[in-house]
Amino acid sequence: MHSSRLIRSALLFAAAGLFGCATTALRPGDAVPFPAGYRDWHHVKSMVIQPGHPLHDAFGGIHHVYANAAARAGLASGRYADGAVFAFDLLEAKDGGNAIEEGPRKVLGVMHRSATAYRDTGGWGFAGFTGDGANVVKDMRAQCYLCHEAQQAHGYVFTQARP
Ligand code: HEC
Repeated sequence: MHSSRLIRSALLFAAAGLFGCATTALRPGDAVPFPAGYRDWHHVKSMVIQPGHPLHDAFGGIHHVYANAAARAGLASGRYADGAVFAFDLLEAKDGGNAIEEGPRKVLGVMHRSATAYRDTGGWGFAGFTGDGANVVKDMRAQCYLCHEAQQAHGYVFTQARP
């Protein structure tokens, strides 16, 4: 049983990489796929979280939020179709010389929409990929969803579109 799930995840991962998208239908228990190609998606916004901010311990640094086409449509309509993916690209913020620059990547946060696969977390699968591809999210609900739940009226998404 276990190995067949592993093989399926590996195939999904490979498919997402090959086709540069991650719209394969996911099932309960499936891992959140790596968002291959996200640097080519729509850039929604950026933010610098500095020491003193309540989220600094977890999310200090500079982050950029990217949306794939389905997520971008969801930002406009307020409804997210399966296959919508947001990437939260968190890098260290190097402050010096009156400029704040990007440093090395800390983590790549992901929200991947599948109403059936991720029913317990608002229909979103949460993941946090580090440089070597490991996923730091072991408990989507405790580590991610319980904070995003505050945005239930906006589909559990904090980011808002701007022109
Ligand atoms: C303490 C609250 C909190 C927790 C916990 C949290 N987030 Fe978020 N998340 C936010 C906020 C606030 C934003 C909006 C950031 C901005 O406006 O740039 C956000 C934005 C995001 C986005 C972009 C889409 C959106 O909703 O705006 C993704 C993807 C994301 N988070 C993933 C994660 C993942 C993965 C985890 C778990 C490792 C996580 N988040 C845990 C507060 C949280």
